[in-house]
Amino acid sequence: METWTIIILGATGDLSRSRLLPTLYEIIKHRDDLSFAFIGSAKDQIDIVDLIQESITGDKELIAKLCKRSSYIQVDFTKPETFKELAEHIDTTERKHTLSGNRLVYFAIASQWYCTVTKLLTQYGIVSKNGTHRVVYEKPFGWDAQSAQEINACITKELTEEQIYRVDHYLTKSLVTSLLLTRFSNVFFEPIWNNTYIDQVQILLNETEMLDKRGDFYDKYGALKDVVQNHMLQLLSFIAMEKPPSFDPETISEYKNHVLKHTTITDGLLGQYDSYKQVPGVDPNSHTETYALLKAKVDIPHFKNIPIYIKTDKALDTKSTEIHIVFKPQAQELMQKTGTFDANRLIIRISPDSAILLRLNAQKARAPEVLPISMEFCYRCTFGQEQPHSYETLFYEIMRGDKSATVTLEEIVYAWNIIAQIQNLSLPLHSYTPGSSGPPEAQEFTKKYGINWDTGATVAKPSKDESSG
Ligand code: BG6
Repeated sequence: METWTIIILGATGDLSRSRLLPTLYEIIKHRDDLSFAFIGSAKDQIDIVDLIQESITGDKELIAKLCKRSSYIQVDFTKPETFKELAEHIDTTERKHTLSGNRLVYFAIASQWYCTVTKLLTQYGIVSKNGTHRVVYEKPFGWDAQSAQEINACITKELTEEQIYRVDHYLTKSLVTSLLLTRFSNVFFEPIWNNTYIDQVQILLNETEMLDKRGDFYDKYGALKDVVQNHMLQLLSFIAMEKPPSFDPETISEYKNHVLKHTTITDGLLGQYDSYKQVPGVDPNSHTETYALLKAKVDIPHFKNIPIYIKTDKALDTKSTEIHIVFKPQAQELMQKTGTFDANRLIIRISPDSAILLRLNAQKARAPEVLPISMEFCYRCTFGQEQPHSYETLFYEIMRGDKSATVTLEEIVYAWNIIAQIQNLSLPLHSYTPGSSGPPEAQEFTKKYGINWDTGATVAKPSKDESSG
């Protein structure tokens, strides 16, 4: 049986509680062939059973099973001797559960600690170049291009590149992993995937989160560093990429870099929701953005002059991540009597449920009106299976040694350069009401550039009578 020791540094933080611990529960639930012990570690003094019970809702027996395999040890990154204790604790745990010594160490901590802690891990033999020891670094990797390069220079002295996983969990989401395949293997898409046919692209990451559990982290980063630098620019690179000669990871990374290198942000505006400054851990004078609307361009031949709008906001009333490819309206000259044809739109819905929707025009039977209709491929309806959570997939990939969700340093640096460009634009920061669609000023921006947001309201749904015939 495959065995792992999973060590989470920063086990008491929000990422661990909200994503990583629930993932361990999912692994126990779904993978009988995999045995692991979990060691949580952080500065706080806590009880591991309490931590697990607070973080996971589910089957009591499975939670109890996870608790049995779990333990906790305090570490302080400023006190190297605590890593000696961690090393001893790991050895004891591996003996107790008869584990083979495969180790997965997850850095759920701020990246300012990545270098120091990696050194401590190797110094105390917790990870070494000889063992099956994999180290996972969460995004954002660094806080600008220079820090990312420095952190990388430090950790690559301690570890081999094979051991290093600079992860972005978006790269494990079903429709993200299959995006290139969908684009390039279906004849309907690629011939029109260019500036002759595409009018604009929208990359949208809408969230309901009010940040109350992680004000301290978020306030140092904001939307640009938290999700634009990584998840959203990764999506952009998949959308704008030219056709690669193969799908091997090095080639894909090279093609992503080509996009990122040629991406410029030309305009935008930022927002902060009204009560944000009252969130625990947030500076009462904070200028951190919880909303960003950006206009980007990618100067590569087939994408030249296609505006790309990147929009993300916290404190909305619904959560969803979608990419919209809005095509140029066609054959308007044929429409003199009945108005204008709607622009076709391809919607790639990444979450909450994976789906691909195609908005087409159709004429109503025995009527002059042309209405937009929707053709939909819903991942779950078609494949009929519950999709694994993105972090669950991430853990399996790492255990397999699969680096599909790992980003190269080059990609990270290009992405940080784009964030620096945005910072240099000194975009205005406007306030907005939680639950609204963002700052009122965004409407002027929308008008100014003719952004065609999807209202979805006009899509024709068949009535019972119509669908039966
Ligand atoms: C994380 C960000 O990386 O991604 C969060 O830190 C954000 O702020 C989250 O909410 C979004 O991920 P998902 O999987 O919920 O879309």
